Amino acid sequence: MQTSANDKIQIALIGAGGRGMADAKIALRIPGVALVAVADIYDGHLTRAKELFGDHLFTTRDHREILARKDVDAVIIGTPDHWHAQITKEALAAGKHVYCEKPMVHDIAEGKSVIEAQQASGRVLQIGSQYVSSLVYQKARDLMKTGAIGELNMVEAYLDRNTAIGAWQYSIPPDASTGNIDWDRFLGNAPKRPFEPIRLFRWRNYRDYGTGVAGDLFVHLLSGLHVVTGSLGPRRVFATGGLRFWNDGRDVPDVMLATMDYPKTAQHPEFTLALRVNFASGVAQENFGFRFVGSEGVMTTGYSSVKLAKEPRESEPGFTTETFPKAMQKKMLDEYRAKYPRKPLTAESIAMQGESHYTTPAGYDANLHHQQNFYDSIRNHKPSVEDGVFGLRAAGPALLTNKSYFDRTVCSWDPRQMA
Ligand SMILES: NC(=O)c1ccc[n+]([C@@H]2O[C@H](COP(=O)([O-])OP(=O)(O)OC[C@H]3O[C@@H](n4cnc5c(N)ncnc54)[C@H](O)[C@@H]3O)[C@@H](O)[C@H]2O)c1
Repeated sequence: MQTSANDKIQIALIGAGGRGMADAKIALRIPGVALVAVADIYDGHLTRAKELFGDHLFTTRDHREILARKDVDAVIIGTPDHWHAQITKEALAAGKHVYCEKPMVHDIAEGKSVIEAQQASGRVLQIGSQYVSSLVYQKARDLMKTGAIGELNMVEAYLDRNTAIGAWQYSIPPDASTGNIDWDRFLGNAPKRPFEPIRLFRWRNYRDYGTGVAGDLFVHLLSGLHVVTGSLGPRRVFATGGLRFWNDGRDVPDVMLATMDYPKTAQHPEFTLALRVNFASGVAQENFGFRFVGSEGVMTTGYSSVKLAKEPRESEPGFTTETFPKAMQKKMLDEYRAKYPRKPLTAESIAMQGESHYTTPAGYDANLHHQQNFYDSIRNHKPSVEDGVFGLRAAGPALLTNKSYFDRTVCSWDPRQMA
């Protein structure tokens, strides 16, 4: 189905939970976009979709009925992670453009087939990591390119939370039953097991469906990092952590630290990455950001701001002579001062250090911006801002942190080959 710049784009939502519904609401703010159909395996979410978006919606439990419809140009996939790759491939094969929520895949091995499916289809595939479109990360990228912090050597990125909902303890509707839930369809390729609503409504807590902290949150941090640095990914990945607070039956950690080695590229020198998620962080409800450290300054980013703090490198190295005999101290100090004569302290010595702040315009929403980019790609036949290759280069190392954590090992990754 071809679309031109002024065409209406008819979309369907597959997976109408928290994120899917939010994505659909955002999509409807974009001129020319209409929601025509919704698929979800829980009837309550289909009812809610009609309440929110209108009775005209076609609704079904089976996403394949959506893909068979001629009036659907594009789909938003907001299912749990274990369905992302399969539905994306089916949708592309059916000729639909796809906006698939992050992480692109549940398992790294699924990645290449998603990329191939997109290439074979000629349709737009955009992964839903909104920081990729965010003005904050574009600004940080531009500052980095101009050498604002000198030579990058380390990045710290974190996303800490301190609430039950932040730790994925979502509400479970009391009517949940096999009468209104297609349990087998929820399970999909995951191991078969009897109906247990907590595993559906809090699927992030179980590795069979979710990807833990790694695919939920590290992937956002890696996407932002790759935009700012232009990097393709790390070579080595190590993670540790534990289940420290939310002992609610989950089989994934709630505290996780990862370190990664990023090799030198044409875009940046070699640097080290430290990632952190803590769901019992003891402080603010949510704390998210990056700290890019370079030889001449530090750049910090948050949801809507970039701060640049620059401190020029010292103009003389200093000395540590205190423990030497007096005569030796004098000799060394005389030589030192001959090499580095004292400079008078002036007002300029203070003015050389500085901080700059950048904030996004009032009302700016990276989620909207990211979806605008998706519909722009469809209408104007532009490349996706976050295609399958970018998606796998973020998801791959993120998911490797799980392997490192569970297997207690250091993992290798080839960022070019994505394997
Ligand atoms: N980009 C972001 O900032 C962001 C934020 C939140 C969630 N997400 C991503 O969005 C996805 C959904 O997360 P959520 O928080 O909305 O979860 P959720 O549980 O609220 O929603 C998932 C929905 O998918 C439905 N579902 C399950 N299996 C299905 C199937 N086979 N076919 C159709 N529907 C099915 C569930 O019934 C549920 O309504 C996840 O992959 C998550 O990582 C992204």
